[in-house]
Amino acid sequence: MTKLLLRALAGETLPVPPIWMMRQAGRYLPEYRATRAKAGDFLSLCYTPELAAEVTLQPIRRFGFDAAILFADILLVPQALGAELWFEAGEGPRLSTIRSRADLEALKPADAIHDHLAPVYETVRILSHELPRETALIGFAGAPWTVATYMIAGRGTPDQGPAHALMAENRPLFEALLDRITEATIEYLSQQVEAGAECVKLFDSWAGSLKGDDFTRYAVAPTKRIISELKARHPGLPVIAFPREAGEAYIGFAKATGADCVALDNSVSPEWAAQNVQKDGCVQGNLDPRLMVTGGEELVRETRRVVEAFRNGPHIFNLGHGITPDADPDNVQLMVDTVRGR
Ligand code: CP3
Repeated sequence: MTKLLLRALAGETLPVPPIWMMRQAGRYLPEYRATRAKAGDFLSLCYTPELAAEVTLQPIRRFGFDAAILFADILLVPQALGAELWFEAGEGPRLSTIRSRADLEALKPADAIHDHLAPVYETVRILSHELPRETALIGFAGAPWTVATYMIAGRGTPDQGPAHALMAENRPLFEALLDRITEATIEYLSQQVEAGAECVKLFDSWAGSLKGDDFTRYAVAPTKRIISELKARHPGLPVIAFPREAGEAYIGFAKATGADCVALDNSVSPEWAAQNVQKDGCVQGNLDPRLMVTGGEELVRETRRVVEAFRNGPHIFNLGHGITPDADPDNVQLMVDTVRGR
């Protein structure tokens, strides 16, 4: 029988939705912290296939999720293009910045990323052999806008100010950078699929800061281009798009981009999303990740609410954003049991 996640992505309404969690391999799990310590640091973990595969498998063993997501990071693509990348302890990512034509010209061409990313493809190959037969394997990349915000600012920013500033000051340069990332993303995801990924997800974590025409040009258009090229190369490949905090712009996003599933953050209500977004196809989401910290009756009630709201159409149960390091694994188990009616 086909894997539950792939059935939902094909548009099937299931009695119990498939379930997985964004950042399911992460610091809230003691076994993740142990493997990360063995690797030495986060990037070494990403680039050591045996260990990256091991942390990908840990939440599957513990919770029996219906999907595993490749363990890697959206910022490996800028690094493969030649940007410097490092993680400041307790603070997050840092990158060399792209502010001028010369900075852009110093980057590698989009098809020159594969040597650097070979360990990631090897992780996918290991996983495609080691996962339980009912578990789907999800590959991923950042969407071009979100990746560009980090490459321009050199770090995470609350309002993506430097990227918006470059867009205003030098639109041709901004667009040339977006094109380079878009092309590299097509190459990267295509190799993940060749290596065994059964579905891919595009994380546009900062899509919500693009408004009006900018949303259409820099969130919708690159996503559409990536999806149509991937589907041309890999017919039938399902794609999940996550334009986080798109709000009203979630409406019609699947049709406009060709995505098979739209992932929803928890700033929209599941009832609203069922009516306005799920009417066009599969949706993923959208429990508040904070409930993985607080637990209790509210967790059970809100989990049931999400399942109930989306029960009349194709749905993949997930959080509205990544699980946080302070989450309690027992709460994750309670969520899984509640979704599966145990
Ligand atoms: O979901 C998964 O389990 C798969 C692996 C995955 C990671 N990052 C591992 C990771 C995925 C899909 C991502 C996506 C990612 N990375 C996004 C988009 C999704 C989102 O959260 O909005 C973004 C913006 C990044 C960039 C990034 N990576 C940041 C900002 C940080 C630091 C913040 C933090 O949570 O610490 C990372 C580090 C990172 N990526 C960790 C993990 C498990 C924590 C690293 C650690 O072990 O210290």
